[in-house]
Amino acid sequence: MQKLKLKTATHHYPILVGSQILQNIGSEMKKLGLKGTIGIVTVKKVHDLYGDILRDSLQKEGFLTRTIFIPDGEATKTFATIEQILTAFIQQGLDRSSILLGFGGGVVGDMCGFAASILFRGVKFVLAPTTLLSQVDASVGGKTGVNHVAGKNLIGTFYQPELVLIDTSMIKSLESRDIIAGFAEMIKTGLVKDATYFSTLIAHQSEILALDEEILSKAIYTSCQLKARVVEEDEREIGLRKILNFGHTFGHAIESVAGFGTLRHGEAVLLGMLAATLLSHHLGFLESNAYSTIKEALLHIPLETKIPKMDIDTLIKAMLHDKKRVNQETQFVLLDKIGHAFVHSGIDEKEIKIAFKETLSTFTKMGL
Ligand SMILES: NC(=O)c1ccc[n+]([C@@H]2O[C@H](COP(=O)([O-])OP(=O)(O)OC[C@H]3O[C@@H](n4cnc5c(N)ncnc54)[C@H](O)[C@@H]3O)[C@@H](O)[C@H]2O)c1
Ligand SMILES: [Zn+2]
Repeated sequence: MQKLKLKTATHHYPILVGSQILQNIGSEMKKLGLKGTIGIVTVKKVHDLYGDILRDSLQKEGFLTRTIFIPDGEATKTFATIEQILTAFIQQGLDRSSILLGFGGGVVGDMCGFAASILFRGVKFVLAPTTLLSQVDASVGGKTGVNHVAGKNLIGTFYQPELVLIDTSMIKSLESRDIIAGFAEMIKTGLVKDATYFSTLIAHQSEILALDEEILSKAIYTSCQLKARVVEEDEREIGLRKILNFGHTFGHAIESVAGFGTLRHGEAVLLGMLAATLLSHHLGFLESNAYSTIKEALLHIPLETKIPKMDIDTLIKAMLHDKKRVNQETQFVLLDKIGHAFVHSGIDEKEIKIAFKETLSTFTKMGL
C-alpha cells in the first residue's frame, strides 16, 4: 500500500492506494481517531459487489453503520437526491458526531461530500472511490456538488474528507467505457502538469486499459499525487487549480447537451480535450508537433460510446452557464506545450464554434 498526504491551509488527510485494502478501512479510520456512526452513501451495484467487505471491516472495529442507497448515474446527481440523503440520515438518527462514507464512483463521492458539508452544518466524511475516474481524480481535493438543469456542478462546496482509501482491485468489475473515462482524466492530468507522466500513459495505454495491476496502481498513485500538489497550492481554484479543468469547458457543455447520463463525464472530457487542443493550436499557442502528438493520443483512446447529434449553437449556449465564467467571460484552459496549461479568456465565439465542429466531425468520421 502507498500513502500520500494532502495538506491544505486548514486540513490534512491521507490518501491510501493499494490492492485489496478495502478490508482495512475500519482500522485505518480508527487509526485516525474517527469515532461515530457511519452513514454509508452508495449505489446498489457497488454495494452488491463489495458492500460486505466494507461493512465487515467497519463492524470489526466497532463502528455502527447505516446505509442509504441512491439511484445510480449522473442524471441523479441533483439537489433532490441530496435532500433524500439528508432526510434518510436524519431519520436514521445520525448526529453531529456521525461520519458519512461515500462508497461508489464520482457521482456518489461528489454527493456524499456535499451532503456531509451541509448536514448539521458539516460532519466528517471519508471516501472509498470505486471507479477509475473517481480513484484518479474525483476523490482527491474536496470539490463536492451536484448538477443543475442549467449546467454541470453548478451547486457545491469545497469540503475536504478525513481519509481517501483507494482499493485498486475494485475497478476490475467496471465496464470498459468506465475504464476509458478514467483513463481520459489521467491523460488530462499529464497534459496539464507532467509531460513525462503523459508519455508513460501513452506508452502503456494497452496495459492500463487491460488493468495490469502493477502499471495501473503506479499510474493511479501518480495521478493522485499530481492532483494533490495542485490542490495544496490552490485549494479553492483561484489560480493554478483551474488547469485541471482542461477540456472541461467544452466537456461540460457536451455532457449537459447530450443529456446528463448519456455520456460518462470522462467521455465528454475526452471530446472536450480534443476541442481545447484544437483551440490552443488555432490560436497559435501550441505548435504543430505537440498538437499532432496530443491529437493522435486522444484519438487512440478507444472511445466506444456513440456520440449523440448536438447542435453547435446549443452547445455554445450551454457553455455560457459554465461556472468557469468570470466577469461574464468564459474561461478556457489551453496548452502551450505538453505538460503545461494556462487560462485564457476573451476568445472569439467563431473560434469556439470551429473547435466544437471539428471535434464532433472527427469523432463522427470515426463512426462514433
Ligand atoms: N470532485 C471532483 O474533483 C471531480 C473530478 C472529476 C469528476 N468528478 C465527477 O465525477 C462524476 C463521474 O464519476 P464516475 O465516472 O465515477 O461515474 P459514476 O459515479 O456514475 O460511475 C459510473 C458507473 O460505474 C458504476 N460502478 C462504480 N464502481 C463500480 C465498480 N467497482 N464495478 C462496477 N461498476 C461500478 C456506477 O454504479 C456507475 O454506474 C461526474 O459527476 C464528475 O463531475 C468530480
Ligand atoms: Zn473531470
